[in-house]
Amino acid sequence: MTEKKAQLTIEGTDLAIDLPIRSGTVGPDVIDVGALTKNGFFTYDPGFVSTAACESSITYIDGGKGVLLHRGFPIDVLAENSSYLESCYLLLHGELPTAEQLEEFEGAITHHTMVHESIHQFFEGFHHNAHPMAKMCGAVGSLSAFYHDDLDITNEKHRITAAYRLVAKMPTLAAMCYKHHVGQPFLYPDNSLGYAENFLRMMFGTPCEEYKVNPVLAKAMDRIFLLHADHEQNASTSTVRLAGSSGANPYACIAAGIATLWGPAHGGANEAVLQMLEEIGDESNIDAYIAKAKDKNDPFRLMGFGHRVYKNFDPRAKVMKQTCGEVFAELGVENDPLLRIAKRLEQIALEDPYFVEKKLYPNVDFYSGIIMKAIGIPTEMFTVIFAVGRTVGWIAHWHEMISQGTRIGRPRQLYTGYDAREYVPVEKR
Ligand code: SDX
Repeated sequence: MTEKKAQLTIEGTDLAIDLPIRSGTVGPDVIDVGALTKNGFFTYDPGFVSTAACESSITYIDGGKGVLLHRGFPIDVLAENSSYLESCYLLLHGELPTAEQLEEFEGAITHHTMVHESIHQFFEGFHHNAHPMAKMCGAVGSLSAFYHDDLDITNEKHRITAAYRLVAKMPTLAAMCYKHHVGQPFLYPDNSLGYAENFLRMMFGTPCEEYKVNPVLAKAMDRIFLLHADHEQNASTSTVRLAGSSGANPYACIAAGIATLWGPAHGGANEAVLQMLEEIGDESNIDAYIAKAKDKNDPFRLMGFGHRVYKNFDPRAKVMKQTCGEVFAELGVENDPLLRIAKRLEQIALEDPYFVEKKLYPNVDFYSGIIMKAIGIPTEMFTVIFAVGRTVGWIAHWHEMISQGTRIGRPRQLYTGYDAREYVPVEKR
C-alpha cells in the first residue's frame, strides 16, 4: 500500500517537505513531523491540543460521539458487566481474563495490599489537616524507596509486579491519608474482602467493632474506580509517560501523576464541583452563577463541565449519574439539596446557548463528587479516590511505553527572549 503523505511548502523558498501520514485502527490520522527539524522548523502546539505524543493501544476516545473504549470495550458495557479489578487486568494485559486468570489476579492484588510498616510513621511527618493529596504524593513517592534496588524496568516481570503493587496499595494508602486526617488508627487490609469493600472498611471501620460495608455503596465505589481507570493521554497520564521516559522509578512516576491530577482543571475538579455547589447553596442562586460562568471577565467556571476531548456527553458522566440515583435511593436522600442544585445546573447548561455552542457537557467529575459525599467521603478526599482509580491507567501506559522502548521526552519551544547580549558590570547599570 503506497504510503500516504502530506507536503509542506514554505512561501518564499523552494522547500517542499514530505511528511508521512500514519493511520491508527480508528480515529484521526497523524502527520509524522520528524522531518521538520532538519529543515529548521519545530511544530508549535501549546497544551498539546493537536499533538499525538505517542502510539498506544490501551484506550480510545471519540470526543464528538462521546465514545470511550478500553482495549476496544465501551466504558458503559464494562461499567454494567465488569468489575474494577477485571478492568485493571484488561488495561494491563490487553484482554479480558478467563475465570482462572481473574481469580489469580485478584489473589495477587489482595496479597499486595499491605504497605511496609515504616510507612505508618511516614504520616506522622504531616500535620493532621494537611491536604490528603499532599500526603498521597509523599506516601506513593516513598514507595520508590522500598522497591528500587531490585527493580529492573527493562524486565517485564518486574514491571508487572510494580503495577500489581501499586494497584493493590493505593486504597491502603488512601485510607491511611483519611485516618491520619481524622485522628483514627489505621486499619490493616482484610484479605477476605473485595477491592472496593476493603477500601471502604479501611476508611470507615475502627478496631473497636466489626464494620459491615453496605453492598450498594461497595458496588458504587467499585464503579467509581472503574470509571476513573484510564483516559488516553490526559495531563496526569502524559506526566507519568514523560517522567517514565527518563527511566525513573515507576513509583516516583506515579507520584508525579498524582501531583498533576491534583489541579482543579483536572482531577481536582470533583472537589471543586462540591465546593461550587456548596457556594451556590440554593437553587435561587443558580442563574447568577451561570452568568458568572459565561462572563469572560469572570474567572469562575462551571466546575464539572467541559472537556478538552469530549464535545458531547462524557460517557462516564452518564454512568455516574445512574449510579448517583442508585446510591441516593439506597440512602433515602433523593431530595438532597446539593443534588437538586446539580440537576438544575445540568438542565440549564444543556439548554443554554453559551454551553451548547461551546459543547460544554457534564464530565466525569460532575456527579462523582456528589456520590462520594453521599457515601460519606469528605470533599478533600475526592481527588485521592480519583488517583486510586487512575493508577492502573497510569501504570498501564508506563508499562506500554517501556515495552515499546522510547526515547526521553524532550519538547522544544518558540524562544521569544533576548538574543545574545553583552554583560554590563553593576557599576555601569
Ligand atoms: C478531567 O483530559 C482528560 O481526559 C481529563 C479527564 C480524565 O479522565 O483524565 O477527563 C478528567 O480532568 C475532566 C475535566 C475536569 N475539569 C473541570 O470540570 C474544570 C472545568 N472545565 C474547564 O476548566 C475546561 O472545560 C477544561 C479544562 C476541562 C477543558 O479546557 P480546554 O479544553 O483548554 O478548553 P478551554 O479552557 O479553552 O475552553 C474553551 C471555551 C473557553 O471559552 P472561549 O475562550 O472559547 O470564549 O469554553 C469555555 C472557556 O472559557 N469553558 C467554560 C468551561 N470550560 C470551558 N466556561 C464555563 N465553564 C466551564 N466549565
